[in-house]
Amino acid sequence: MEQIADFKFDIPTRIEFGNQVFKKLGKLCRGYGNKALVISYKDRSLHAFVEECVFLLKAENIATCLFEEVEANPTHTLINKGAELACSEGCDFVIGLGGGSAIDTAKAVSVATVEKIDIWEIVEGKELTQTPLPLVAIPTTSGTGSEVTQYAVISNRELKRKEGFGKKEFYPHLSLLDPYLTVGMPSSITAATGLDALTHAIEAYTTRLANPLSDLLAEKAIQLVADNLRTAVYSGQNMQSRYNMMLASMLAGMAITHADTSLAHVIGEAIGAVFNTNHGLTVALTLPAVMEYNCFTNLDKFANISALMGEAVNHLAPRDAALLASSAVRKLIGDVNVPTCLAEMGVKRDETVLDLCSRPGWDATNLRSAKRADFQDLIEGSLSPELSYWKITTK
Ligand SMILES: [Fe+2]
Repeated sequence: MEQIADFKFDIPTRIEFGNQVFKKLGKLCRGYGNKALVISYKDRSLHAFVEECVFLLKAENIATCLFEEVEANPTHTLINKGAELACSEGCDFVIGLGGGSAIDTAKAVSVATVEKIDIWEIVEGKELTQTPLPLVAIPTTSGTGSEVTQYAVISNRELKRKEGFGKKEFYPHLSLLDPYLTVGMPSSITAATGLDALTHAIEAYTTRLANPLSDLLAEKAIQLVADNLRTAVYSGQNMQSRYNMMLASMLAGMAITHADTSLAHVIGEAIGAVFNTNHGLTVALTLPAVMEYNCFTNLDKFANISALMGEAVNHLAPRDAALLASSAVRKLIGDVNVPTCLAEMGVKRDETVLDLCSRPGWDATNLRSAKRADFQDLIEGSLSPELSYWKITTK
């Protein structure tokens, strides 16, 4: 693709990456504050890590308060509750330990604690008046990239809304990326989060905002997921695959920070708002149809995706190589023991989903504009494994 636009690139987050970097938590948190609100999951599946967190901070005379109430698709009411706790306990920094939901919650709590208003007002556009509390992100999954982005996704069940929104103040101050923390992750979560990372990488690579640096990050992330996700799912103790998937998640997160996501995430968030589905799976199951919709906007890039995912593209013309990209994604989805279509996740045709997708400007990052009828075709093409966007639109 012709690259003609100026671009800037800025990641304010300090990254500590490597096996056992979690052990350095206490020392690395010196200077952030005297009492941390540690945010993690309601099911306490990560409670051993939370306890270690408390121990490591205590060694540096840093007190802690625990908020283990996060569930998938965190809501504004959960965030407001966390902020009230941080205020009443006098916490002066926040740690998010877990997957994207825990880190997104931590981002939003760090804002709501100082703003002292309903976080939904911020989601709806109210400007920040205070500097958020310092934030430390410790991912235990490899997928959302939230540890290096300015985005948080927050749900409002009453309004049936799920909004991703970003502010530069949302970047974590510090992210500890320790692949050992992902070794115990169940294979189903490994698969779903890994496919989220792939979707970030492919979408960032093909949006209107892609730039030469985000392309480099996205290309590497696509290749890492294609080469390592199967091993991470079926051989979770394999440290090389865990390391590479965490690296892929981080690189794809950096890519979307600058190039954004596109229609798979627009549709995925809308479906998630209505059906409360798993984020990574929902966007990944929509991705092949979106790739087919976009394929002819940039043959070279889609041909390159095919090559990066291991398709035999030598000697193929760019058009023929590009056509293999969506099937390469379908093969990977089919190999990692997850639902292979939206209908298997309980998603049905739904007017509210279409209303949410079709809001003006929500196709702005995509190289090809999309109207309500296009979103309808994209969802229809993702409902069954026998369907595709191409089949829907050529019948
Ligand atoms: Fe995502």
